[in-house]
Amino acid sequence: MMDSISQQLDIEMLVRADSVHRSVYTDATIFDLEMDRIFGRAWVYVGHDSEVPDPGDYVTRTMGKRPVIMSRHTDGEVYVIHNSCGHRGAKVCVEARGNAQPFRCPYHGWTFKTNGVLEAVSMPRGYGDSLDLSNPGLGMRRLPNVGNYRGFVFACLDENTVSLEDWLGPARNSIDDIVDRSPSGKVLLNAGIHRYVFRGNWKFQLENTVDMYHVPFSHESTLSPQGHQFSRRRGDDAGSTISDEGRAAERWEKREAWGAAEHGHSYTGHQPVADKKREDPAYLSYVESLKDKHSPERLAEVLAPRRHNTAFYPNMSLQALNQHVRVICPIAVDRTEILVWPVLFEGAPEEMNRDIIRGLNVTHSAASLIQTDDLENFHRCQMGANAENSEWVWFARGADTDQTDNHGNVTNTGTGELPQRAQFKAWARLMTP
Ligand code: FES
Ligand SMILES: [Fe+2]
Repeated sequence: MMDSISQQLDIEMLVRADSVHRSVYTDATIFDLEMDRIFGRAWVYVGHDSEVPDPGDYVTRTMGKRPVIMSRHTDGEVYVIHNSCGHRGAKVCVEARGNAQPFRCPYHGWTFKTNGVLEAVSMPRGYGDSLDLSNPGLGMRRLPNVGNYRGFVFACLDENTVSLEDWLGPARNSIDDIVDRSPSGKVLLNAGIHRYVFRGNWKFQLENTVDMYHVPFSHESTLSPQGHQFSRRRGDDAGSTISDEGRAAERWEKREAWGAAEHGHSYTGHQPVADKKREDPAYLSYVESLKDKHSPERLAEVLAPRRHNTAFYPNMSLQALNQHVRVICPIAVDRTEILVWPVLFEGAPEEMNRDIIRGLNVTHSAASLIQTDDLENFHRCQMGANAENSEWVWFARGADTDQTDNHGNVTNTGTGELPQRAQFKAWARLMTP
């Protein structure tokens, strides 16, 4: 069914070098194809292994429309399995998280181990000899590809995909940078989740995570008359300068945005506020604890990260300043759920980790000073896409100055719309039958 629809749809007609047809945000058939193809072919971020520390721990997630479970089995390994019963297909777990000993389907009571293997069938004699508990088709099957990059767990349904490391490419370094900032070499995503739904297409959020062009305008209400934003961290004397007339905007015009046309990942460059000297004692003792882990050069690099926000196509972003992981869960063509986790450092002073949580509450919760502006933008983009104004949504900023290397990696200035162009190149590639 999906195949016949996709053959009638000319994907190339929807994506141009500098613009996309607005129907990619409004057409329910295109949305269904995205869920099938993009979330069925890409390596999709599922969760962080610190969310399931003990055997039996699990979280439920989606890959497009497909419900999956990430669980920690008794062998200590993390598994990603389909959240669907091998009997008649019911969704087994509906809770967001828990500890299963074992999973039990509510319909006829079949049970499954936390690696998805069928454990027991209710009233088994009724099946005679046809019942084979070891038949994977009767279990909750494991996804064909699961990868763990320094704690970040991704899965892919495409049997012929490239490896996770190749898929992530240079975007991996953004994970390295944040993990190397942890005194133990491990980050923790176990402090709870901000969860909210907006009335707009999922791609609006993905585009926005790596959009520096909107910042001085959309977030103007967060600025003092001098163009300074509120201080985001204990020990900073003042917040970022993000006024469009300020020096920060000038810096953003340097070549600091990056995008990978092949797989759609991208990042925006360094935020000057990350260089600010911080004096609070908890932070200073944390820096001290990192000194024997890294060379002085690497330490300076991880403490003032070069990348502000990295978008891992298609569903995750990682921010280095107000450090968090954001996951984009499409629900319908005009409805999206967002999950946001603060990223804590194992072994850092508790006070500092508490500050990370507090800072994120102010910047990226549903009631925060920043995220609310963006959610309003996404809803307005969705409403505006229904107007019969221009058929095309334009991402031309910097299009004639993109520089592409042999591997499909592109660079441009901080406020260019390169990341969005890279996303739609990957979109077209994944959507094409
Ligand atoms: S559908 Fe799960 S036990 Fe029947
Ligand atoms: Fe924003």
